[in-house]
Amino acid sequence: MNIIAKEQYGVIGDPVSHSQSPAIHNLFASQLNQTINYKTFHVIQDELKQFIAEYKNKGGKGLNVTLPHKTAVMEYADEVSSRAAQAGAVNTLLFDENKIIGDNTDGIGLISDLENNFHQNIENKHILIIGAGGASRGIISPLMEKKPSSLTIANRTSLRANQLVSRFQQYLNIDACGIDALDPNNSYDIIINATSAGITSTSIDFPCFIINENSVCYDLSYHLKPTPFMKWSMDNNAYCAIQGWGMLIEQAAESYSLWRHIKPDTSSILKQLKINASSQVLRRL
Ligand code: ATR
Repeated sequence: MNIIAKEQYGVIGDPVSHSQSPAIHNLFASQLNQTINYKTFHVIQDELKQFIAEYKNKGGKGLNVTLPHKTAVMEYADEVSSRAAQAGAVNTLLFDENKIIGDNTDGIGLISDLENNFHQNIENKHILIIGAGGASRGIISPLMEKKPSSLTIANRTSLRANQLVSRFQQYLNIDACGIDALDPNNSYDIIINATSAGITSTSIDFPCFIINENSVCYDLSYHLKPTPFMKWSMDNNAYCAIQGWGMLIEQAAESYSLWRHIKPDTSSILKQLKINASSQVLRRL
């Protein structure tokens, strides 16, 4: 007997108990009158391979992958999409009849939030990503496909920014530097915080000249209250500051659509999760 019901999904991570993904996917399913079984699975690095093999054997249909496994799961997929390969990270696994496919919906989640929810065009914009860790990897090629004027990746450790940019050599208008080497004569249209600064500490130590009065500042992390990066952005007179709830919901909708070939409507999910919209975005008065 198959001990897993047919439409079984979940998220693997370590830690994972805080994940909002079960709530989001269950809201999608009920909106679409579908029945799914979506669970969190606490999986440590050493058990990753075995867990994925067993999950497949039990008939599981799909998994989301969160920290710290996004890179490691790549080797357990039989195929990875080009966007996941480019990012070097997978956030969604699809269990086909014969094979496991790895994909990455993080970048498209960010783009959907910026374009559809906040009506921000990326084309011809000057974009700055601060941070060169796992969070920035998945968003670079989806951003570049939208043809910004330039994309700069600045990291506290400049070597890591250079190493990351070297993966994207097909783009001519992308560059890397240390945060301390940012040009004081340049400010940016869209500034994305992909660091863990603000989670690990409350003080933000980025140079304020990167912001101008039209800058849209986006924090990839998300909390119930405005993040330190959002507050720092508004203190430095940004146009607005957004945190990553929309990206989280949009990437989940993309995963759901990969698994079940129908795209949920994301517009009411934030409210249904009881996230205060005035905490999700700060605007200049
Ligand atoms: P993740 O997978 O969440 O991106 P990570 O790979 O550990 O986590 O990367 C964390 C990122 O936050 C890195 O870019 C890190 O900079 P370094 O590469 O120099 O370590 C950045 N970071 C963490 N704390 C920071 C701080 N206080 N100021 C600036 N950058 C910080």
